[in-house]
Amino acid sequence: MNTAIHEPTYNYKVVRQFTLMTLVWGIVGMGMGVFIAAQLVWPDLNLDLPWTSFGRLRPLHTNLVIFAFGGSALFATSYYTVQRTCQARLYGGQLAAFTFWGWQALVVILLVTLPQGLTSTKEYAEVEFTGAVWMAIVWVAYGAVFFGTILKRKTKHIYVGNWFFGAFILVTAMLHVVNHLAIPVSWFKSYSVYSGATDAMVQWWYGHNAVGFFLTTGFLGMMYYFIPKQAGRPVYSYRLSIVHFWALITLYIWAGPHHLHYTALPDWAQSLGMVMSIILLAPSWGGMINGMMTLSGAWHKLRDDPILRFLVVSLAFYGMSTFEGPMMAIK
Ligand code: HEM
Repeated sequence: MNTAIHEPTYNYKVVRQFTLMTLVWGIVGMGMGVFIAAQLVWPDLNLDLPWTSFGRLRPLHTNLVIFAFGGSALFATSYYTVQRTCQARLYGGQLAAFTFWGWQALVVILLVTLPQGLTSTKEYAEVEFTGAVWMAIVWVAYGAVFFGTILKRKTKHIYVGNWFFGAFILVTAMLHVVNHLAIPVSWFKSYSVYSGATDAMVQWWYGHNAVGFFLTTGFLGMMYYFIPKQAGRPVYSYRLSIVHFWALITLYIWAGPHHLHYTALPDWAQSLGMVMSIILLAPSWGGMINGMMTLSGAWHKLRDDPILRFLVVSLAFYGMSTFEGPMMAIK
């Protein structure tokens, strides 16, 4: 008897739920992007209403595409990958279901509060204190499910994709908590504990690493599982993947000041951010090359495998944008 069919070992339900919501939030979030883009051309589309104005819908677009769309994709793929590479069902029973409903509740909070102009004013961290606390609770549950599954794994080794997902979860928690430290004055209004240049530095340490760890490190976790899987070949260089991991997470965290060139931030901090951003090209391309080279010997599969084509094009764009980033970081 095939036990995998009759007695499913893995929790695929939560993976399916997050995948479905990735599609839904992708359509809503990018639809919002199209709408605000149209507002830039036809300002009348602001409709003369405060809650449909560009200033309020722009953060809704960014939050929807990053946290609702990107976040759901990351939950789905990390839950899928960690179970299959650890050969263990997700840890924590109903905790995974809590992370699904909790994360959707967060998106509802964003949809309700941002158009009302309730905002911390920090880019990609606009959600006010109460929503931020809820996000932190869901995130801690996510960490418990993910790392709990790693702990109960039946395999000896922790596959490199899980290292990337793990770093993404830990660092996102750190960034979120530090940047959101605030003094609440009511349920929906709070003031940051930082001020002046310190506030700006903390915000862009967060903002840059929201891209670096949420939109990059997590997605590299996906890359390390799905590219070898789809190509039907092992990772080109496992050694390079380890070097890639440590170099990337060590360097990324320093690059934030490039968002604050020629501002009140001390000049030495700007220069440090610039140098670290340039060095960051090396691990970024190391990862991109590792993905591309995994396909060597399997290039013929690109002819009739659309999934592989999408994966290759993603890698190519990752290579281009991680070249553009260091160039733009030069003062
Ligand atoms: C149909 C697709 C999309 C459209 C039409 C769109 C449109 C826009 C527009 C009009 C802006 C505001 C630009 C401005 O203020 O001048 C924006 C900003 C932004 N969008 Fe999108 N977007 C789309 C998809 C995405 C996706 C998939 C992501 C990421 C997962 C994303 C992330 C962002 C970010 C981070 C910003 C802020 C950029 C900054 O402050 O420099 N967008 N988008």
